[in-house]
Amino acid sequence: MTAVDPPGLLVEGAREVVTMAGGIRRGSGQGEAAVLAASDADLAVACWQGRVILAGRRGDVTRRLAADGLDPDDLTRFAHLDARGGTVTPGLIDPHTHLVFAGTREREIELRRQGASYLEILAAGGGILSTVAATRAASVDELVAGGRRWLVEMLGHGATTVEAKSGYGLERDTELRQLDAIGRLDAECPVELVPTFLGAHAVAPEFRGRPDAADAYVRDVIDVQLPAVAAQGIARFCDVFCEEGVFTADQSRRVLAAGAGLGLVPRLHADELRPSGGAELAAELGAAAADHLGVPSPAGIDALARAAGRVTPVVATLLPATSLFLKGEAYGPARALIDRGVPLALGTDFNPGTSPAPNLQLVLSLAVLRMGLTAAEALAGVTINAAHALRLGDSHGAIEPGRQADLAIWDAPTHAQIPYWLGANLVRAVVKRGRVVRAGAPV
Ligand code: NIG
Ligand code: FE
Repeated sequence: MTAVDPPGLLVEGAREVVTMAGGIRRGSGQGEAAVLAASDADLAVACWQGRVILAGRRGDVTRRLAADGLDPDDLTRFAHLDARGGTVTPGLIDPHTHLVFAGTREREIELRRQGASYLEILAAGGGILSTVAATRAASVDELVAGGRRWLVEMLGHGATTVEAKSGYGLERDTELRQLDAIGRLDAECPVELVPTFLGAHAVAPEFRGRPDAADAYVRDVIDVQLPAVAAQGIARFCDVFCEEGVFTADQSRRVLAAGAGLGLVPRLHADELRPSGGAELAAELGAAAADHLGVPSPAGIDALARAAGRVTPVVATLLPATSLFLKGEAYGPARALIDRGVPLALGTDFNPGTSPAPNLQLVLSLAVLRMGLTAAEALAGVTINAAHALRLGDSHGAIEPGRQADLAIWDAPTHAQIPYWLGANLVRAVVKRGRVVRAGAPV
């Protein structure tokens, strides 16, 4: 908070508060959003020093504040925000993005229209590798400027916490530069960034053409890149693109095990386009998340289901904007995963190649319209379950006493309208750590 901000915030006049209280959502609980509703728009959320004190009827909230010796009408201590009959949810959490890169790839839309597949474009030296060439040539300031543009867009659409990966350097110095840019954006923007090292995103161009290209590159990731990243302490997670034609499950295991040995928690791109053993590997390693899961094998779903009962289960993170953009039908077996008790999260996968979509509201709409989720199930996927996918499940993702006060205030009387207004931005205001960081025009 800046020095001029009062330490407290009272959000008043909400018709609905989607608290998501009660912990991680799995099975039939995926759709239990813990909603407070009041037709007279009398709901309030009180925040103090960046944390939630209470959500409930205004009278109850005021009494609770008084018991703590706080007067909400003391304007030097409380800022006021009028929700004007709208809905309050936890600030949205995007658990999978490639926020920092240089260059654009609109040309690949035309290549795909002519029949080339995503992996064929990559194998021919385009795709991820064209972003790698542009990113290697970019300065850290350029990377920060590019990331800032899209981070502002994410914030404007309700995101308060965003995971961001490296993976467009594929050599030590550029990977470090990307992670440095992510750290700078975290420091300068109200959105909180969670950094992930993704050195194993594709085989670097220097290694291609050798018979042992992927294995040799994996050694570079493990021996050269990972130790440098760990030494600087600038990544929390280690990720791999585990996919037929990119890295095998065995190569992915080596990278993730080495990362874990250096304190980086594993997560992975798993079974996006073909069943590649990714879901099984995520369960075996106790990864924080298995992401994409467009086409996991039945054994992979079984493995995630077995892991679902753990205290820290693997969160299945589906990325429907990518399926839309690649025109695949593979939105992933969301219902089967929920029915098997696997906690489900949703992300944008924002990146220049497969998901130039910084908007989590669009992801909510796709989850409801294309994956068959209810609005409440989808919202759990971008709040409490996304927090767990980032191992922030004890402090983020719900409006509960003591948690970080990250909120989105919506121009909608009920959360059911959030995925319904297709393509509209319904965010009226955004609160990060108890401070209004984005306020929309008065309606
Ligand atoms: O999650 N699938 C691998 N990585 C990204 C795409 C990266 C790119 O094409 O630039 C994804 O879709
Ligand atoms: Fe991705």
